[in-house]
Amino acid sequence: MKKKVVLAYSGGLDTSVSIKWIQQKYDVNVVTMTIDVGQGKELKTIEKRAIAIGALKHYSIDAKEEFVTNYVFRAIKANALYESKYPVSSALSRPLIASKLVDVANKEEAIGVAHGCTGKGNDQVRFDVTIKSLNPDLKIIAPVREWKLSRDEEIKYAEENKIPIDYTSKNIYSIDQNLWGRSIECGVLEQPDHEPPEDAYEWTTDPVNAPDKPEYLSIGFNKGVPRTINGKKLNPTDFIFKMNKIAGQHGIGRIDHMENRLVGIKSREIYECPAATVILEAHKDLEKTILTRHEWSFKQQIDNQWTLLAYTGLWMDPLRHALEAFINKTQEKVIGEVKVKLYKGSVQVVGRSSPYSLYDLNLATYESSSTFDQTWSIGFIELWSMPTKAANIVMKKNKTEKP
Ligand code: ARG
Repeated sequence: MKKKVVLAYSGGLDTSVSIKWIQQKYDVNVVTMTIDVGQGKELKTIEKRAIAIGALKHYSIDAKEEFVTNYVFRAIKANALYESKYPVSSALSRPLIASKLVDVANKEEAIGVAHGCTGKGNDQVRFDVTIKSLNPDLKIIAPVREWKLSRDEEIKYAEENKIPIDYTSKNIYSIDQNLWGRSIECGVLEQPDHEPPEDAYEWTTDPVNAPDKPEYLSIGFNKGVPRTINGKKLNPTDFIFKMNKIAGQHGIGRIDHMENRLVGIKSREIYECPAATVILEAHKDLEKTILTRHEWSFKQQIDNQWTLLAYTGLWMDPLRHALEAFINKTQEKVIGEVKVKLYKGSVQVVGRSSPYSLYDLNLATYESSSTFDQTWSIGFIELWSMPTKAANIVMKKNKTEKP
């Protein structure tokens, strides 16, 4: 019997030609696997296509719930925005897909796994590091990286090998999507001085055409994760789906980002992340209401490091668990309601409340009822100013220039 290789199959051009190419080049059987992370593609159609091209067997795995609770929720707790812009949506799905690849490969007693990543991006790193961490004995095949075919050449190969593919206009873009966001690359988007054409966007209304009336939502958080919209509890997957829909209608979540890839390339990336944009904004605000200034400022560094691990393919590094121990401790009290205003492409937090809020009206108010004794500040400023005052006296004595 021929040996087996398990391929992560999306149904697109790259992975479709990969089925045939792996069979020919390595003389193996190809088992295909498609993971549903909320990309909104018909799994049955993908399965049929894989079998039609020549896959020995196909696995369809619904991992939406797992994706949200084990990956997206962690990213929310860490306020994950790579380079302050990108909610790491594609990055989060890679370790999940890679772990399913390894599971299926182990089950099928395959000699290796395969994916459709190029040799220029971050995704290859995320896949390979996860696979190597979970089963270092598996051979990793990346046909697009090894083969170095251009898109035109791939289409020619597909035609010669009678591989059925879609020739829709959307093929001008390379798209990767899941519940947490949509990434759009290629075509005119590679010109960073050009505004992305409207046809690059699918999840968001052009803000110009968004409703003229703002919409208000109250988002309820429990231990750092979103649970309710206007008091109504939704399961994790439905929550994200619903938020994408509402925020998308208001044109929220379009991101145009000059991104520093791990492999050193600077690339212009376009994303649509309506739910992520709203939820992260609300979560950050609630944390600021609840955490002490010391907790909050230290958490900035931890969040940043967590995001870096997720972006650079190091999901499997034990450091992530150590960082999460801190993050989860802080999230125990991140409970409350955040009111957001959605309007023509923007989201604004306009209200927040929490039983753990550290906001004290008695201290903050400028009314006469305040319990804050203003004379306390005089002594405080004496101590606070001491080192700066002393330095300036010395500078003056030595005629050093003013800072
Ligand atoms: N630059 C993003 C990342 O590294 C998106 C990558 C996937 N996008 C795609 N269209 N294939 O996470």
